[in-house]
Parts: sequence; C-alpha cells; structure tokens
Amino acid sequence: MAGASLAPGQLLSNLSGMFSFGSTCVGLSIGSSSIKLAELRKMGKGWKLVHFGIYQLPDEAIVNREIVNHVAVVESIKTLVGQISLKNRAVCTSISGSSLIIKRMALDVPNLRDLQDQVFWEAEQYLPFDASEVVMDYHLLSRGKSNHTDVILVAVKSSVLDSYISCVEDSGLRPKIVDVDFFALQNAFEINYPSSSSGAVAIVDLGASSTKFLVVQGGVPIFTKDSAVGGRNLTFEIQRHLNLSYLDAETLKTSGQNGSMPQEVMDLVQVMNENMAVEIKKAIDFYNASSIGGPIEYLLLAGGCARTPGLSKVVEEVGGLPTQIINPFNAISCDPKIFTQDYLAAIGPVAAVPIGLALRAAYK
Ligand SMILES: Nc1ncnc2c1ncn2[C@@H]1O[C@H](COP(=O)(O)OP(=O)(O)OP(=O)(O)O)[C@@H](O)[C@H]1O
Ligand SMILES: [Mg+2]
Repeated sequence: MAGASLAPGQLLSNLSGMFSFGSTCVGLSIGSSSIKLAELRKMGKGWKLVHFGIYQLPDEAIVNREIVNHVAVVESIKTLVGQISLKNRAVCTSISGSSLIIKRMALDVPNLRDLQDQVFWEAEQYLPFDASEVVMDYHLLSRGKSNHTDVILVAVKSSVLDSYISCVEDSGLRPKIVDVDFFALQNAFEINYPSSSSGAVAIVDLGASSTKFLVVQGGVPIFTKDSAVGGRNLTFEIQRHLNLSYLDAETLKTSGQNGSMPQEVMDLVQVMNENMAVEIKKAIDFYNASSIGGPIEYLLLAGGCARTPGLSKVVEEVGGLPTQIINPFNAISCDPKIFTQDYLAAIGPVAAVPIGLALRAAYK
C-alpha cells in the first residue's frame, strides 16, 4: 500500500483556475456506502455527461468515514472503472469526516509573501491534532484595508488522506486533486444554479453516515457543519424492528416490497424524517446565531437520503425554508438515449458530489 502526501495547493477547491480543454474530467467520490464516478466533457461553454456509475461498497469497508478495508475499496473502484470503461485515469477525489477541519480565518497580514507561514502558524491553535500529523492548505478569500486578510483553512489528518490516496492509486487511477465534499457540493451548485442574487443558500448532503450542512454566499462557503447522522441510522432501525439482515433492511428501505412499503417501515421513515429535519433546523439556527452571513433563502438537499419519501416536505416545514432536491444536471447536457430523465432524477442527489469533483478536475 503506497503512502502519499499532498503539496499545498492540491487540497483546496475553487474554480478560479485555468480550464484544461480537450479531454474529459473525472470525479471519484468514495462515500461510506458506495463509490460514485462522474465523467464530464467540456462542450463549448457548457458540459456534457459522458459516464456516471455507482458501486455499492461492502458493509463496514468505511467506518466513521475512515477506510478500514483497503482491499474492498480498491476492488470496488476497479470494478466500477471497468463497468463504465473509463479511459481517463486522472481523477479528482475527496475526503470528509472528523479528520477534516475547515476553518475560516481573519488575519492581519502585512506582507502577502508571509501569508502561508502565518496561516499555518495560526492554524495550529485550531487543530485538535498535532500539527505534524496533518496536511494543511488554504485559499485566499479576500484582502481588505489595513492588511485584513480572509482565508479558508483546510487541514486533514495525513494518515486518512494517505489511505484515500493509496486506494485510488492501487485501483490504477491517478489522484490529481484531493478535494473536500463541501467544496464539491459548492462547485456543483455554482455551475447549476447561476443566480444574480447574492443571498445565502444552504446545501445539505444527506449521506449514509453523515449529514453535511453548507451555506454558500457570493461564491464563498461561509459555513460548514458535519454531523454523524445518516441513512444508516434508518436502516439499523428497520433491521432491529423487523429482525432483518442489514442488507435486507437496506433493500426494503430503498426498494420496498412487491411495489409497496410495509406500514411499519413507513412509520420508521416518518420518525427518521422528523429527526433529520430537526438536525437540519439546528444547523440553520446555529448558522443564524453565528451572524456569519445573510439569511438563508432556500435549502437544496443532496445525498442518497434526499430521496427518502416525504423528507423534503418535512424539512421545509420544520426548517421554515423553501426546500428542493438538488439537480446537478441543470446545466449539464446528457444524451437522452444513454441517460433517461428518470435515471437522472434518481441519481441526481448522489451525483452532486462526484459532478462537483469532476468540475474541479477540469481546473488545474
Ligand atoms: N430511495 C431511497 N430512500 C431512502 N434512502 C435512500 C434511498 N436511496 C438511497 N438511500 C440512502 O442513501 C444513503 C446513501 O447515500 P450517499 O450515497 O449519498 O451516501 P455516501 O456518500 O455513501 O455516504 P457519506 O456521504 O455519509 O459518506 C444510504 O443510507 C441509502 O440507504
Ligand atoms: Mg457522500
């Protein structure tokens, strides 16, 4: 298993770089429950979806968003790459979880040449890990009067970063950029929801073992919150109440039984929807209390759990904000002979992160 580390500048996502025209760009999302791969091609001023694929990971391959079964993850990536006959091996992948710290910092920097040293030096006080155990990067947001400098710091435990990079490398791909799920969501949002409004928008990624809450305003990710609540919680409840295996509970939850859903499962879904909506409301309240940005105008739901029947409506009621499921294909053309409207609607929420990563891969 090859170790790897990143130089500063390879960890952060922003779309201010240069296009690499010509070939395709690939986003690889290693989620707790599945691998997702999106390949895009630049077409004039827009983008076209070339390939999209999902491959379910075996249970417990990723625990607490750390890779515990390297071989299973590598084999799953290889299988998915083979299934979609991916030619372009250079990918942008991402990390998330408690080993990742994202922090907006306001600094007094007299000389921009010293910015990196100053950011990394001041960052050490925010890190719950020893500075020698992390890889850090930053992005300059703005520089105002009197040397006032706003940056976003990203720090990740090097052991976790290495474990993701080595899985990608061992599956025969080249990780050209390691991004962060939050920024991938932002990139997917920016391209698909171009708007003249400078208001704040919240994007909530409801995954298998996490809920990521992001507020974007004026092209800047102004607030992030990551909690360890996800779709697995509902699957465990179904497993426990109906005495099923985890896999059977998952299948029942996502596909029903003979075209319908047992009442007992629907009741559990209802309870979980309310719990998730309350979690999201807490994040909204936390954001509002922080006075970091303007009022949130609307919520966009991403991630597999966004497809849970009734969830969007409950979130809208509890959160008190207009809520819709994200469409990462608003601004991306798709051949209807390959990708039907039904397929795109089904994969939309889980495609947000890999599409954002593919967009990031296009800029170097
Ligand atoms: N139709 C559906 N109804 C309810 N839940 C669903 C549905 N489809 C998928 N899910 C749930 O979505 C979750 C997977 O979502 P996603 O692929 O976004 O997670 P992930 O990226 O693997 O996890 P994470 O981001 O937390 O690491 C699973 O818990 C799955 O049960
Ligand atoms: Mg995910």
